[in-house]
Amino acid sequence: MRELIITGEHPLQGEVTVQGAKNSVLPILAATLLTSSQVELRGCPHLRDVEASVRILEALGCTARWEGENLVVDTAGLNGWTISDILMREMRSSAIFLGAILARCGRAELSYPGGCELGPRPIDLHLSGLRELGAEICEAGGMLHCRAEQLTGREVVLGFPSVGATENLMLAACGAKGTTVIANAAREPEIVDLERFLNACGACVSGAGSSTVTVEGGRPLHGGTYTVMPDRIAAATYLCAAASAGGEIFVRGARESHLSTVTAALREAGCQIRPDAAGIACVCRERLRAVGPVRTAPYPGFPTDAQAILMAALLRSRGTTVFEENIFENRYRHVDELVRMGARIRVSGRVAVVTGVPTLRGASVRCTDLRGGAALCVAALGAGGVTHVTQIGHIDRGYQDLAGDLRALGADVIRTEE
Ligand code: UD1
Repeated sequence: MRELIITGEHPLQGEVTVQGAKNSVLPILAATLLTSSQVELRGCPHLRDVEASVRILEALGCTARWEGENLVVDTAGLNGWTISDILMREMRSSAIFLGAILARCGRAELSYPGGCELGPRPIDLHLSGLRELGAEICEAGGMLHCRAEQLTGREVVLGFPSVGATENLMLAACGAKGTTVIANAAREPEIVDLERFLNACGACVSGAGSSTVTVEGGRPLHGGTYTVMPDRIAAATYLCAAASAGGEIFVRGARESHLSTVTAALREAGCQIRPDAAGIACVCRERLRAVGPVRTAPYPGFPTDAQAILMAALLRSRGTTVFEENIFENRYRHVDELVRMGARIRVSGRVAVVTGVPTLRGASVRCTDLRGGAALCVAALGAGGVTHVTQIGHIDRGYQDLAGDLRALGADVIRTEE
């Protein structure tokens, strides 16, 4: 059985280094399609979603090879514009390739991404934005057929600050004639990282991190070397792990500026959080307190990707914490599994009410999605007895070695393979 076996109630102690950011490297891998030569991505995490992106690049005629922790991508051989249904299904965020393929090839064909474990995953904002840049997009039989002899820059106002739509439009705009202004753009740090990567390759992008991103298109992009930013959600996971198990850890590479809503909640719960230039220290010695309402929102609001993880850390707190999930429709699937461990959680629509219990007990639980899976591990670290976490393929999508990292912090975690 492929699973993580976690024996809880061992306080954490030590240091862990945060991997490169999954949500940064995926759009950057799509962006390599805009370059004419070799790109070396330093600190690229080995993840299932990265492997899926590499398979898409290879199917399009590009090559990619690992050199230790660096991934070297060469797009000189690009010879296709179609992503098969099988490859699209491997990773729901593969729609991010659309803008780049369109900009480079003038056409793109891929299957509609459909739903995912978090609920429906529409890409209407991506498509309407690309249409505004001049793409002709026809949706037939679950396939998207896109053409654009010449994309043309203009102002595109997003109805919602979608991360993926902002990234897709930034990539398409690099290949468009003239200036594109993306208004109501997402402001996530990963958008800033994408801007930095594109500019390092010769693009002219500005404004990332604010609500208005401007792209001067039409510049040829060259290859280069780029270091991916640290993963703020992995960092949040380790901080919450220490909050759940107790102890004192240092998360090297974590940036407080990216995590301020998460660290504010942990401080309110009673953890000592000490950021410095190298990372964040977290000390948790006592039973935590419940915190004020946690409402997920686009950055700089509380990240939806950290909702399950913080919830897991607060299961044994004193008092009641209200969570409100405002980004995805179906993001409480971890709750039933946490309840199996003795948690008291009531869900009603977008709201989950967590009433702290004195103790949790180990149980057999199943990952329902990536961050929900990480949350089960966080809860297990604070539970009495042994927890068996199955369907850990979800966790492998976003964590290079969660079990190894937790072990490095003194946790009792064993990974078994089939
Ligand atoms: C990205 C992240 C994901 C994170 C999410 C929100 C990556 C690879 N993934 O996903 O981990 O949870 O941001 O921070 O970076 N929507 C539409 N129409 C669209 C696009 C989005 O209705 O065309 C909706 C989505 O269904 C969702 C919300 O907008 O309810 C947010 O989606 P978006 O910001 O696009 O998230 P992703 O880019 O998919």
